[in-house]
Amino acid sequence: MRAIAVSASGAEPVLAELPKPEPRPGEVRVRVEYASLNPQDWQAVDGPAPAPGSFPFVVGVDYAGRVDMIGAGDNRFRVGDPVFGRAGGTDGTPGGCGTYGEYVCVPQDSAIALVPPGLDSRTAAALPSAGMAAAQILEAVALRGHETLLVVGAAGGVGCCLTQLARARDVRVIAAVRGDERAGMGSLGAAATIDLTRGVPADALRGACPDGIDALADLASAAPEAFAAHASAVRPGGIALSTRGAAAGAQLPGGVRGVDFRLAPSPVLLDVLAAGAADGVLRVPIDIELPLEKAPEALERNREGGARGKTVIVLHHPGHC
Ligand SMILES: NC(=O)c1ccc[n+]([C@@H]2O[C@H](COP(=O)([O-])OP(=O)(O)OC[C@H]3O[C@@H](n4cnc5c(N)ncnc54)[C@H](OP(=O)(O)O)[C@@H]3O)[C@@H](O)[C@H]2O)c1
Repeated sequence: MRAIAVSASGAEPVLAELPKPEPRPGEVRVRVEYASLNPQDWQAVDGPAPAPGSFPFVVGVDYAGRVDMIGAGDNRFRVGDPVFGRAGGTDGTPGGCGTYGEYVCVPQDSAIALVPPGLDSRTAAALPSAGMAAAQILEAVALRGHETLLVVGAAGGVGCCLTQLARARDVRVIAAVRGDERAGMGSLGAAATIDLTRGVPADALRGACPDGIDALADLASAAPEAFAAHASAVRPGGIALSTRGAAAGAQLPGGVRGVDFRLAPSPVLLDVLAAGAADGVLRVPIDIELPLEKAPEALERNREGGARGKTVIVLHHPGHC
């Protein structure tokens, strides 16, 4: 099968021809129609080398497609089921069997769910990591209606979902992005949008929100200093959450609790998100659609930021055998 794979520690992801994976007991094999790109895909390539013997490893975690083979033993899926999900460990770590490949094998009890009627597989593939992270971030910052959430990096995959889910709970979202994204973020429910390229965020925030921010979700800052600068807008007693592990080392203002977020993928949460997307309550903006061979360039581009919604990668067009 064709796949984007990494052949050795530190090597670039490249298009490769690999054997089709065989499902082990308790697994399903999915014929992937779409994968979606997450920063974790290149972060995993950069990260510590996987266990010896795990090369070549196929990049990617999010997918949608159809079950085409069932491993031995009990299984809640059947051949032909339309499914989507996030491959990898239930603790959020990527597995050896990635989704930028024509077939992926995943445990039937992992974060995999049926694609409901009314949801296309392209949108379903864009949903798992970004949607689940957004839902769990909203739980972690524990805001109720009429409180204010500052989202830094709001125009990317997680940010677009988080803005909508927060808005649906009557949380006031201040979206911080690089560039003028007022129209796009406003259409997703942001109450105000700040352009981080135009001056000091703290000043812009005081203007947009004079009473202070109840919580920060920083989806962009990897450096504790940058994270702390955004957290300086949070009122005492508030929460400052990082998705990039920046909270632990940051000097936060007195009374502000730092949280390093960690996704806990769950099939139940996938069902809830898919129902919302099928009903049109949750919109998953897809910015770019690419053929598989273009995925390495897209990964490289994503490192620099600038994502506007999701990038999806086509493995098989739905309905074509
Ligand atoms: N810890 C976890 O379990 C977990 C779970 C999900 C996601 N994450 C992490 O959360 C982050 C956001 O995820 P995502 O899926 O929303 O990513 P994404 O779709 O690539 O969006 C990231 C957004 O951040 C903005 N950004 C600002 N400064 C940036 C910078 N220096 N570098 C990169 N982007 C920058 C980008 O827009 P502008 O360039 O216009 O500002 C972009 O819209 C990623 O690092 C991801 O790995 C972690």
